[in-house]
Amino acid sequence: MEGSAPPHFEENNKRAGSCSLVIFGATGDLTGRKLMPAIYHLGRDGLLPPHFACVGFARRTKTDEQFRKEMRCSVEKHAQTQPLDSSFWEHFSQSLFYHTSQFDDDEGYRSLKALLTKLDRERGTEGSRIFYLSVQPKFFPLITSKLKEHGMIVDFRRDSLPFSRVIIEKPFGRDSSSAHELQKHLEQSLHEEQIYRIDHYLGKETVQNILVFRFANAIFESLWNNRHIDHVQITVAESIGIGTRGKFFEEQGIVRDVIQNHMIQLLSLTAMEPPANLSPIAIRGEKVKVLECLRPLEGKDLSECLIRGQYAPGFIDGKSVPGYREEADVSPHSTMETFCSLRIFIDNWRWAGVPFYLRAGKRLPKRGTEIAVVFKDAPGILFKEQGSNPSNVLAIRIQPDEGISMRINCKVPGPESPIQPVKMDFRYGSYFGKAPPEAYERLIWDCMVGDSTLFAGTNEEEHSWKFFTPILDHFEEQPSEQFFLYDSGSWGPAQADALLQGGRSWRLL
Ligand code: BG6
Repeated sequence: MEGSAPPHFEENNKRAGSCSLVIFGATGDLTGRKLMPAIYHLGRDGLLPPHFACVGFARRTKTDEQFRKEMRCSVEKHAQTQPLDSSFWEHFSQSLFYHTSQFDDDEGYRSLKALLTKLDRERGTEGSRIFYLSVQPKFFPLITSKLKEHGMIVDFRRDSLPFSRVIIEKPFGRDSSSAHELQKHLEQSLHEEQIYRIDHYLGKETVQNILVFRFANAIFESLWNNRHIDHVQITVAESIGIGTRGKFFEEQGIVRDVIQNHMIQLLSLTAMEPPANLSPIAIRGEKVKVLECLRPLEGKDLSECLIRGQYAPGFIDGKSVPGYREEADVSPHSTMETFCSLRIFIDNWRWAGVPFYLRAGKRLPKRGTEIAVVFKDAPGILFKEQGSNPSNVLAIRIQPDEGISMRINCKVPGPESPIQPVKMDFRYGSYFGKAPPEAYERLIWDCMVGDSTLFAGTNEEEHSWKFFTPILDHFEEQPSEQFFLYDSGSWGPAQADALLQGGRSWRLL
């Protein structure tokens, strides 16, 4: 299945080695919506290894043919490029297999091993395996120890073949102690370099571009500090509700689902110092230093620096939608947060005194993820009569309409010369002629080539949980404090506006 790689995958002439990819939880939502479209695209772009097989592992009984048919429907529905390339699919689908088993059934692991050995022989996958754990986190330890017990995880030797790697979906634990316990458990079966903790935000082109933007353009670095920046706003807004994931969300909430991982990655990439080189160790090391400097929220900060909310019924795009408590598998009295906004400080030399405002929510008016760097105002000495001069804002649009814009003040042509803010705008779509590829494509490919740069490190998880665990404990102890319902289709509880002080306001996306 090899061909010529598109430019974004060509770095260092890396090539994916022959392998089987086993997806645990293959009948789940993520496999159909994201993983299979990503694998299909990799195949179509000639990026899968020449000898490849993908095995879906799940509890429901089904044949290879049924699995292939279902995966075809999913790709037709969810792949970014449409229509599906039928002649490629015919060839590609022959590399898809299905294996029925419970996660704790030894017989199921024995027969998985036999299947993989058969595929090694028939498809030339050479004993290398990637296990993708797209299952509830409580199964991570069980599955990894069963794989080890049944000899499917080979010992780690750098640069040696065959390889065994395990991709772990988030959330990595629920708090500091469970994340620590999970890590200890994984260490019994796996070497750290075999563990790929996925945070799909890191696979997004626009997220990878934050480092390039900051460190390949010298003009910004001298402005990137508390002398010139007034504050930073990071928003992850979604118009969708929790859909069929009621059970999952009742255990997670928006802080565990989005803020502790995706948003913390955005924050640390925005705030980190330049790394010594581009190795995973150097980059993660700098991100961890940011997390070490997060000022803990404790005492009265817990009520003054964060606001929680939960969506009530309302309207999205003119259509009426139910409230969170009316969704399937959700308690009618639930106090789980679907919105949270926070004011965070990073106590280091670069950022001392600069607030970072974070907000994430479901059922907001539109989908949009953005990092906005708001610069300090010019002294109000000149141009007083020409109207107000709004602050310069550098907005990094992670999605959709991926791009970067800069708001500057400009003289309107004519003798009266009022001042008006205008936007300099770079858009990926119009500049590069197409939208960036899906994050999962890049991350699965990186795992196949053995590059873990875009995966989260254990120290990052540890420090992020260290910051969020007291906040989550506080939510449990005081479920109604700073907790407000908001109408679906609004920008969250009005109380979130008061988090921003000194005349600042949330940006309208
Ligand atoms: C996932 C969360 O990690 O990220 C979802 O579990 C959320 O709740 C999704 O909807 C957002 O991803 P994206 O790529 O659409 O921003």
